[in-house]
Amino acid sequence: MTQKPSILVARAVFPGVIEKLSQHFVVDANQDDVLFTPDQLKQRLQGKQGVFTTGSERIDAGVLAVCPSLKICANMAVGYNNFDLDAMTAAGVLATNAPDVLTETTADFGFALMMATARRIAESEHFLRAGLWNRWRYDMFTGTEVHGSTLGIVGMGRIGQGIAKRGALGFGMKVIYHNRSQLDAATEAQCHATYVGKEELLRTADHVVLVVPYSAASHHTIGAPELALMKSTATLTNVARGGIVDDAALAKALREGQIAAAGLDVFEGEPSVHPDLLTVPNVVLTPHIASATVGTRRAMANLAADNLIGFLVSCKPVTPLNPQVLP
Ligand code: DGY
Repeated sequence: MTQKPSILVARAVFPGVIEKLSQHFVVDANQDDVLFTPDQLKQRLQGKQGVFTTGSERIDAGVLAVCPSLKICANMAVGYNNFDLDAMTAAGVLATNAPDVLTETTADFGFALMMATARRIAESEHFLRAGLWNRWRYDMFTGTEVHGSTLGIVGMGRIGQGIAKRGALGFGMKVIYHNRSQLDAATEAQCHATYVGKEELLRTADHVVLVVPYSAASHHTIGAPELALMKSTATLTNVARGGIVDDAALAKALREGQIAAAGLDVFEGEPSVHPDLLTVPNVVLTPHIASATVGTRRAMANLAADNLIGFLVSCKPVTPLNPQVLP
């Protein structure tokens, strides 16, 4: 009888997914959800052919150099900036991510966070819970209009397109977008979206939503100069990745009223949050939960598992990122 391949599941995950993986692999599961240091990760990967990662485990040349048995890293996330894809390809290690299954859920959340930001939902709830509400006032927590306003989306991939459709079709918003490349005319028509330059988007949008993947090129896409271009009544929402926004510059812009408000689901250096963001009132802060519905998280975990099974059992991964390493 041939020995089952060994894999590491680097973070806690649905027990049913561990059971499914156990049918094919010898599974080293981390159901206590210990956060491994880089050295602990390298140690736990010894003798493993596959690893199930969640986006918090960095896989780079240093890891690959000391884990020669590793053949596949399956991320339970659409984003994969925790992978050094070039190093993985050079080492012949397959990388997979979890696209599509979270698109609509993440678009729902992006839209919800933008609305909560525009309509000051978190700030007003804190006020109420603090027992400060003693009368109705004409100007209490007056926010920014959403319906009929201009929505500016930076990064028009699948999630950006989902947010565009929600804005245009549900809220009668004028949708403008900026992307590395302009979408084809049919997709633009489906999204009711018009391509503009980044500067024009920042100057004219009432609500800027960031859905661009993180890379060295997108680091600090929004910093002090970009914030200075935005309307003082505008909001900024980030459901992409920490590091796309210069959080220190944003906290300053919020404090000084350079923009009206921000909604952030992701942070530079998360789970740490820039201390200045914790003290400004006009920001809605959520702990990287844009894809967090039970159904979607289950689908993401199953897709990562299916990638491990597909590749290690029959050499057919579902969503490979570097298919050039496949035999
Ligand atoms: C993703 O899938 O990239 C989300 O940010 C969850 O990590």
